[in-house]
Amino acid sequence: MTRLSILPSKHHPIVQTLVLIAALVGLGGAVSAQAAINGPLAKTVAQGKQIFLHDTFGGRGRTCSACHQGAGLAATVTPKGSRFPNLSNAAAIFPRYSARAGRVITLQEQIRGCVKGALGGTPPAYGSLTMRALVSYLTSLSQGKPIDMGGKLQ
Ligand code: HEC
Repeated sequence: MTRLSILPSKHHPIVQTLVLIAALVGLGGAVSAQAAINGPLAKTVAQGKQIFLHDTFGGRGRTCSACHQGAGLAATVTPKGSRFPNLSNAAAIFPRYSARAGRVITLQEQIRGCVKGALGGTPPAYGSLTMRALVSYLTSLSQGKPIDMGGKLQ
């Protein structure tokens, strides 16, 4: 609505009405994007959060949230100086180049890498319920953020 207030009043009322309609359509789009996480999608996001918080993937007994704290929303630096990124933009910055892999990787490959390397566990298969749920949960954290392929970890 700030756009309306910066419009000089000399504009024709039709122009002002069009700007108002454009603003309302924009607002409606933002609201419906949020409202779209419901029903089966919301259920899968919730399953992903539970997996993120509690699943050890048959590894050394840690979970994703042992490193990515605050259910993935808090960046952490341990007393020894290890850095664990905040995942609030995770879904927006993939695919990205991984120096470790020496090639471009997807979000699913990153998840599989953390399960194998960080948890010492068995990575979920592509297309499995566990993978779909984790991708859904992480993507929900990035809802509304612009795609920023190759962007910085937070
Ligand atoms: C032992 C600590 C540790 C655990 C446990 C861990 N991670 Fe990570 N994770 C890291 C570190 C360190 C990085 C950044 C370096 C890298 O890319 O490997 C990272 C990076 C990531 C990224 C990319 C960062 C970003 O901002 O997009 C995602 C996504 C991710 N982890 C998801 C997970 C998921 C899902 C789990 C559980 C299955 C998990 N991690 C478990 C340490 C961990």
